[in-house]
Amino acid sequence: MGDYMLLLRLNEKSRISKTQQLIGQIRKKIEEQVLRPGESLPSTRKLATKLGLHRSTVALAYQELWSLGFVDLVPGATARVRSRRKIAARVDRSMQGIVNWKTVSSTAGNDIYEKYLHYPQYSGGKNTNIDFNRLTVDPRLFPKEQFRSCLNQVMKKQGAELLGYGDPVGYPPLREHLARNLQQHGIAVDADEILITNGSQQGIDLIFRMVAAPGKSIAFESPTYSGMLPLLRFSGLKALEIPVCPDGMNLAILEDHLRRDSPALIYTMPNFQNPTGASTSQAHREKLLALSEQYRIPILEDGFEEEMKYFGKVVLPVKSMDKHHLVIYCGTYSKVIFPGIRIGWIVAERECIQRLTAIKRFSELSSSMVLQAAMHQFCKNGYYDRHISRMHRVFRKRMQTALTALHDHILPEWAEWTEPSGGYLIWLRLKPFSAIAPDWSRLFDAYGVSVSCGTDFFFSEGSDAYFRLSIATLNEKEIEEGVLRLSKLLQHIYGQNRK
Ligand SMILES: Cc1ncc(COP(=O)(O)O)c(C=O)c1O
Repeated sequence: MGDYMLLLRLNEKSRISKTQQLIGQIRKKIEEQVLRPGESLPSTRKLATKLGLHRSTVALAYQELWSLGFVDLVPGATARVRSRRKIAARVDRSMQGIVNWKTVSSTAGNDIYEKYLHYPQYSGGKNTNIDFNRLTVDPRLFPKEQFRSCLNQVMKKQGAELLGYGDPVGYPPLREHLARNLQQHGIAVDADEILITNGSQQGIDLIFRMVAAPGKSIAFESPTYSGMLPLLRFSGLKALEIPVCPDGMNLAILEDHLRRDSPALIYTMPNFQNPTGASTSQAHREKLLALSEQYRIPILEDGFEEEMKYFGKVVLPVKSMDKHHLVIYCGTYSKVIFPGIRIGWIVAERECIQRLTAIKRFSELSSSMVLQAAMHQFCKNGYYDRHISRMHRVFRKRMQTALTALHDHILPEWAEWTEPSGGYLIWLRLKPFSAIAPDWSRLFDAYGVSVSCGTDFFFSEGSDAYFRLSIATLNEKEIEEGVLRLSKLLQHIYGQNRK
């Protein structure tokens, strides 16, 4: 201690306070090891006299240096430089850390990591292939200016209130609005039977978490929504795969499982099932609900594309017939408008909603009220209804284009496919071929087209003869060009010329 005191110089004219100058200069000397660990600092009185400062200014600076971890302060003793760990400013990313994350992770954590590490990532629009892969609404159709005006409107009106934590059950006016809107789909509920979620993905996750326990199982259509499978694996629920026939899941096999295994839930997508695009009939829905009633096993109905009934064949959701509160219904804005605002909802009996809210509350405290309020304003201004009409117009044409192009360019000897009554998905099954099974993703890239492989949608090993085509992000021209590319690819595989 001593000499460096002479080197502390405070600038009288600086806009930085004396305390901050002092802190900065002492800190620099510690970092540059001019002052070494263990070395004592001058007393507050001595340093204050030396620098012509008030003693409390020096005391304040020492206090702050203590809170930053640069000095130790012991009452009645001099302040000493602390041996402090250096900030790991530039971590060498090529060096392996010393934690074994595999042992830190649970078995379920490791399983999900190993299985889904290479799950298709959003390419950020860099993929130049014609993309039949993504099930995301074409962003070119987003009414983004209208949404921006709604954001401005709600921020002006309620900004501070919306920027705080909100009720985890959701923004009340949006819940009221959803309760009214669900009536169009035959679902009559009050707002307190609705929980707003961060997309329906969170809805499914919360429901699985509510029911998961060792030995419990879930019955679901096979193939099914691929994003549900990691949640299933992570929750440790046993999988009961029920084959999907052209008219929905095989109810005889389902009943067998309900009787023998008593699953916690039946997960189903009655409309435009992901991945097959198939929709179930009224009769199938009634039988499914009757089984659920008979065995008292709830249904988790995923109405992810409820709004996309653009061919006009309207079969109401199973929830619309549910007198005994057996159906937990999940909905979402993602498949018809902006997936990025992450707004979905669960509709269920009050007690079930309260239980799910309790889980949601502690996993995220609150969802974004700003976005929920803006979406509510968007609906209130009439923009949502206008957007839905446009989506119906646009996708009626796009789906017709896709089905016509498939009919015109894909030979029946090569493949067969489903003809959906709405939504975005077509499920294609290749007929057997003599060549060795190719590396599909490489082949698709070579032909400039992206398609989802059917195996992604099966819990157990699935047949590799299936492919899912999504037209959600493509316009008519792109759909036609994509089908032509597929046709060339299949021509290559089957070694045939077109008719
Ligand atoms: C069948 C199904 N359910 C749920 C979701 C989840 O959608 P989100 O969380 O965006 O509402 C998806 C997304 O692709 C889906 O296909």
